[in-house]
Amino acid sequence: MPDLFSPFKLKDVTLRNCTVMSPMTMYNSVDGKLDDYHVSYLGARAAGGFALIFGEQMAITPDGRTTTSCAGIWNDDQIEGHARVCRIVERMGAVPAIQLGHTGRKGSELPPHKGTNAEGTWKQLPPEHPDGWTCVAPSAIPYGGGGHIYPVHQLTREQIKDIHKSYADAARRALDAGYKWLEMHYAHGYLGASFFSPLANQRTDEYGGSVENRARFHLEALDAVREVWPEKYPLTMRLGSDDLNPKGTQFEDSIIAIRMMKEHGLDFADLSLGFNTDEMVNPPMNEVGFMIERTNRVRREVGITVGTSWNLGVPQNADRVIREELIDLVFLGRPALANPHWPIWAARELSHEDPFHLAPPDWAWWLRNFRGHAPSIGLPPSPPAAAPEAERRVA
Ligand SMILES: Cc1cc2nc3c(=O)[nH]c(=O)nc-3n(C[C@H](O)[C@H](O)[C@H](O)COP(=O)(O)O)c2cc1C
Repeated sequence: MPDLFSPFKLKDVTLRNCTVMSPMTMYNSVDGKLDDYHVSYLGARAAGGFALIFGEQMAITPDGRTTTSCAGIWNDDQIEGHARVCRIVERMGAVPAIQLGHTGRKGSELPPHKGTNAEGTWKQLPPEHPDGWTCVAPSAIPYGGGGHIYPVHQLTREQIKDIHKSYADAARRALDAGYKWLEMHYAHGYLGASFFSPLANQRTDEYGGSVENRARFHLEALDAVREVWPEKYPLTMRLGSDDLNPKGTQFEDSIIAIRMMKEHGLDFADLSLGFNTDEMVNPPMNEVGFMIERTNRVRREVGITVGTSWNLGVPQNADRVIREELIDLVFLGRPALANPHWPIWAARELSHEDPFHLAPPDWAWWLRNFRGHAPSIGLPPSPPAAAPEAERRVA
């Protein structure tokens, strides 16, 4: 039976355990580049024991960012920052992963820590603001909620093709930088999510209407990326699988779409909500593991490996969903922000026989062999006779 600390292999990539640092936008880039900030922040989580490390949604075009201080991978000058992140993540024993995305009608925002709208949520900037732009979408329908009120541009078929090319170009840069796992962001009300949701997509051409049409954008993007992304590395996506609104994305449609994506080379599905509207029926935002049941259905009904996030930061909960084989990987967002060493801490909480196996080998040696006062490093007190040999020698 696997547990949270079992290795997980997909294609030619082996993860040292089942914990993933989930993608989180950091609003800390200049010209879309990664720098010392990202090397330090992501390197710390890799040293903390996470097996797969995502930075944030990386914009495939400048207008695919959330704010002008968000990161991207739309030009070759940005590759070196990504390469630095990949190097530190691998040096710390984890696998570097990238999430490619386009924010669609949820772009042109102010970073939330710099100000919010009257409801206390995301604030959109008007196109004429120096840090704003006109957002693009499947249909000319603004998001509406959270102050996203400015007119949006409906993409033409030609422009959709350009976006698919931008996905492929970004994937080629990601490969050059050293990433070994690629996730397409089709959730959270961004461009992929809005193409899938009837609330945002009211097109009458081949990209709108039936499930097959609403998934066409995603399938074509996967095809474009697969052309440049090697078979040996996982090609995955995060889907906004349910809008929790009778007029929005329905979960049953998501199962059909993921089946089609699998036929187009998808290796793994990361399930989330659609967030194409603020009008959700009974939003479960505070419930533990509220995506588990849906994610497990995808695992069973589509026959694909799966993962999910959302409120799985209590170690016993994260361990249980792996032991019960409900999902294959646990994605952790806020727990990774709150504690860069979450996996090592979780191993101690779960009484793992060697929690420091997740630390870099040189630290692990000291922590195993020169413990001092064991509770000071989060371990139960050790009986004096059991003090390790090395410690007795140094003492
Ligand atoms: C600050 C912050 C930024 C986020 N940015 C992204 C993002 O860029 N891409 C994405 O797919 N999800 C993003 N998320 C969602 C997380 O990846 C994760 O799915 C969510 O926080 C739920 O997991 P948790 O309960 O472990 O935090 C973000 C979450 C936070 C807190």
